[in-house]
Amino acid sequence: MENIAILGSTGSIGQSSLEVIDKLNNRFRVVGLAAGRNTQMLEKQIEKFKPKIVSLKKKEEAEEFRRKFKDRSLHVTFSEKGAEEVAEFEENDIVVSAITGIDGLRPTLAALETGKKIALANKESMVAAGSLIQNLVEKSGAQIIPVDSEHSGIFQCLAKERVDNVKRVILTASGGPFFRSSSQEMEEITLDDALNHPRWKMGKKVTIDSATLMNKGLELIEAHWLFNIEPAKLEVLIHPQSIVHSLVEMNDGSVLAQLSPTDMKVPIQYALTYPEREDSSLPSLDLSQIKSLEFFEPDVEKFPLLKLARQALEEGASFPIVLNAANEIAVSAFLQTEIGFLDIAEIVSKAVENHPQREVQNLEDIFSVDRETRQMTRNLIERRS
Ligand SMILES: NC(=O)c1ccc[n+]([C@@H]2O[C@H](COP(=O)([O-])OP(=O)(O)OC[C@H]3O[C@@H](n4cnc5c(N)ncnc54)[C@H](OP(=O)(O)O)[C@@H]3O)[C@@H](O)[C@H]2O)c1
Repeated sequence: MENIAILGSTGSIGQSSLEVIDKLNNRFRVVGLAAGRNTQMLEKQIEKFKPKIVSLKKKEEAEEFRRKFKDRSLHVTFSEKGAEEVAEFEENDIVVSAITGIDGLRPTLAALETGKKIALANKESMVAAGSLIQNLVEKSGAQIIPVDSEHSGIFQCLAKERVDNVKRVILTASGGPFFRSSSQEMEEITLDDALNHPRWKMGKKVTIDSATLMNKGLELIEAHWLFNIEPAKLEVLIHPQSIVHSLVEMNDGSVLAQLSPTDMKVPIQYALTYPEREDSSLPSLDLSQIKSLEFFEPDVEKFPLLKLARQALEEGASFPIVLNAANEIAVSAFLQTEIGFLDIAEIVSKAVENHPQREVQNLEDIFSVDRETRQMTRNLIERRS
């Protein structure tokens, strides 16, 4: 039996991970859970999975949990340091990294330091700190198995291949809810429209990123660092059916593809059980029922954040950190209906324009650029109102 800790256990990936673990009866034991503010759900997860260590965001909530669970041998901790403690808990064999945004970076690094297996969903960490993570993996011997469906697909296609034999890698995107919308319709998008993803049920931040196609931009950067593929070989195609998750073209013209039902439990289970494969109990893909698989070029004029992310990938240095931080602030403002849907791209582009690019050497540099960008983006938003 392998021991698992889940960072972001109350979120969409966290809950799906626990469902997978529950189904795979007795293969895994949950030893650690790190959540944010959803105390009700964390309480239920503690009752069901009986972890040894849990972490919450706020001190007061952690104190209440200590009182509530005082008869159990449960260590309750809090804040970013608490999530790091869960990540580096000595009994862990596998850590699922699924906290949203840059808040997941330090806990992810703490898990990587231990040299164990990390099922990585938190793409923002890779975007902001790809080079640092790559160095840490080399040093600690940690193994990253991607959870993102596209990266899980690439990982599977590359399992028996050498990266220098790869001609190009194509990440697919569903296109989100506005793939077929006209420019005029795009101006009238509401929060509910943007949260209504046609294929995937996910947390709010990644759902909005999918609607702006920033998610695919972040994934291009993630793929570069995960697989050591040069930017010019990374491409995106819109594939509304979301059945083919990625394609890898080899030098000889062969194209490998990974197909699976549109359910995050597939890549999550693969990451947890790798290199083995267990029965997922999902219905088999019925291609004769699906009939057609379509592919389209993305419209980067309509979705400018994809173009901006590619530029960040190519230019590197502080650009990806700025892109990510500005996007987190702009998406959060959109979720609070402070700005409109199209304002997200406008604000992120302005933040990038305003930021003088610079080299980043270490974690302090990364957080310093991140903090500056967040403040500058908040100012940009305030100045509009
Ligand atoms: N959902 C998907 O299908 C999917 C697919 C591929 C990749 N991803 C990536 O996976 C990550 C998680 O996505 P999600 O959709 O699961 O997001 P989500 O539903 O919003 O869940 C986020 C989780 O992180 C926790 N959290 C947030 N801020 C925290 C903090 N400061 N400290 C501790 N915990 C914190 C939340 O806790 P509370 O809810 O308790 O506050 C929740 O457990 C993202 O990076 C996303 O891009 C998601």
